[in-house]
Amino acid sequence: MCGIVGYIGKKNAVPILMDGLSSLEYRGYDSAGIAAMDKGQLCMSKRAGKLKILAECLKKNPVKGAIGIGHTRWATHGEPNEINSHPHYSCKSDFVIVHNGIIENHHELREKLKKEGHKFRSQTDTEVVVHLIEKLYKGNLLKAVCAAIRQLHGSFALGVISTHHPDMLVAARKDSPLIVGVGKGENYIASDVPAILKYTREVIYLDNNEVAVLTRDKVALYNTKEAPIKKKTAKIKWDSASAEKAGYPHFMIKEINEQPQVLKTILNHRIKGNRVVFEKFNISEAKLKKINNIQIVACGTAYHAGLCGKYILEKLLRLPINVDTSSEFRYRDQIITKGRTLIIVVSQSGETADTLASLREAKKKGAVVASICNVVGSSIARESDGVIYTLAGPEIAVASTKAYTAQLTTFYLLGIYLGRIYGTVSDKATKKLLGELAKVPGLMTQSLKEHKKVKKVADQYIRRYDYRLAEQLMFLGDEIWRFKDPKKALAFAQQCAKKSHSAYGKRFGDFPFLYLGRNVNYPSALEGALKLKEITYISAEGYAAGEMKHGPIALIDEFPLVVCITPQSAVYEKMLSNIKEIRARKGVVLSVATEGDKEIRKKEYSDYVIEIPKIDEFFSPLLVALPLQLLSYYIAVGLKCDVDQPRNLAKSVTVE
Ligand code: M6R
Repeated sequence: MCGIVGYIGKKNAVPILMDGLSSLEYRGYDSAGIAAMDKGQLCMSKRAGKLKILAECLKKNPVKGAIGIGHTRWATHGEPNEINSHPHYSCKSDFVIVHNGIIENHHELREKLKKEGHKFRSQTDTEVVVHLIEKLYKGNLLKAVCAAIRQLHGSFALGVISTHHPDMLVAARKDSPLIVGVGKGENYIASDVPAILKYTREVIYLDNNEVAVLTRDKVALYNTKEAPIKKKTAKIKWDSASAEKAGYPHFMIKEINEQPQVLKTILNHRIKGNRVVFEKFNISEAKLKKINNIQIVACGTAYHAGLCGKYILEKLLRLPINVDTSSEFRYRDQIITKGRTLIIVVSQSGETADTLASLREAKKKGAVVASICNVVGSSIARESDGVIYTLAGPEIAVASTKAYTAQLTTFYLLGIYLGRIYGTVSDKATKKLLGELAKVPGLMTQSLKEHKKVKKVADQYIRRYDYRLAEQLMFLGDEIWRFKDPKKALAFAQQCAKKSHSAYGKRFGDFPFLYLGRNVNYPSALEGALKLKEITYISAEGYAAGEMKHGPIALIDEFPLVVCITPQSAVYEKMLSNIKEIRARKGVVLSVATEGDKEIRKKEYSDYVIEIPKIDEFFSPLLVALPLQLLSYYIAVGLKCDVDQPRNLAKSVTVE
């Protein structure tokens, strides 16, 4: 979480820093700040809230300088106010720092530094680092930074500048991502590539315990003992346009629409003739042949992809497959057999703290580690024995969409790839499976063309609940129905309720969503619910439909919306039975069904129907994902939620 950026060159650093921060805002948006140095004078500006508040402030009180650092924060230690915003100054304001990560021993360091006379301004863990550098500084900034970080426990990506060295920017990393951008007469640091892509394509990925000293014309690298090290620069192949909105109102809808193309790209890269090929997947066939059990580990949406991966791999490999969330896996007494257990970690960002820790734990115990990752060169990708990139391009919206279907696709391909090695997937079966997969991009395009139908359902839902809510607020059912427009009814009700009723604050609290699915679409139900809650703040639960009778059925009356994932499948009849049970209790049902299914459209089953194109059940999660993403998106837009940057969240969770 948190994004950091830094610049040293001849231009004014501030617009470059602000530009960089705008592409890093997905990493956190509780507060933002920058510091720049002009003729040896440090100047800082920081504000609570989103970057646009800082931008407004800079318009009124400009800051300039040819060297600077910037930060966008996701608060961990200390509330997201201005004082706790980064950058942070030393006592004499001669050193200034930005930090991403958590300093675990900040408490003891702070107490010690306080006793030595250091004055702290904020409640952050970060501030100890700048005081430590100040204390250890004896005329050499590199030495002071190295000495300071040798005392730190926890994770950090740091950018440091000082009035004592007006032509130097020092950066360091451990367990939080950091790259150095190499330019001509100017250099950069950033948490992620899109922040600097407009300016350079040459980057150095810093590894743990590496320190970079940037001047205008040079980047020198060291380990934490100040010994010089050499590293190659990598060339970024994708362009900055793919990290921009391209005319869409939100990144999320752009990324939803990119899915057919992403799938095409994956299939073009990975299928050669009747074979799945993973180039540079450094786990040999001999090693893979020794595997007798597989453990999948991931968080959030990637976990849902992993759960679907379990169904896919079980079917294709006939091996015991387990799946766990990273935060649970890392602290469990896992059963790992050296050289026999294959761990598959799944992560869009490749930086998720719990997933990375699980990977390390599994490696320590002798597991073979493969990762399914989107961000090239990320920590998870680099630390795995073999990585399969999902080739989805940068995903900016906090709500994961295209990365999810890319992860699912990769699981299908991995299943076929491993199945060939284990002899569980024949030539004939490969042909059939790849043939089905090849249809998916076209079917996705077809499905996305129907997006207006999903929007209509979202609008109907909002309309229905606006009335219901107005009715509730008024405690006078009939009164509000005289309004033709539900928004007006709601506004009237709100007005009346303002003083005496606080229920509006709990909008939709009484109208939860329940997502039900079976078999390969049980993970789809979980993912549908996650997508809705994270961007609309409506409570939503995903359940295996067969579990409904074991608890969730108690929720059913005429208020919740029950989304039943019911494509044509071996469990179709079972889903219909579940729907009947819901209807018998006055439940409102939205069915996601296969096109042409007349049965499900009958009033006895569904109030609303969203169709997906015909597809083999095994691959249906790839198509089911799209209308569920769209439904959440349109409800969020209708409720005027911040779609791309929902409250309290960050794109990449680099702290535990
Ligand atoms: O980068 P990762 O795939 O490891 O991230 C895992 C989760 O944090 C992520 O999927 C999160 O749940 C998304 N916001 C869901 O849309």
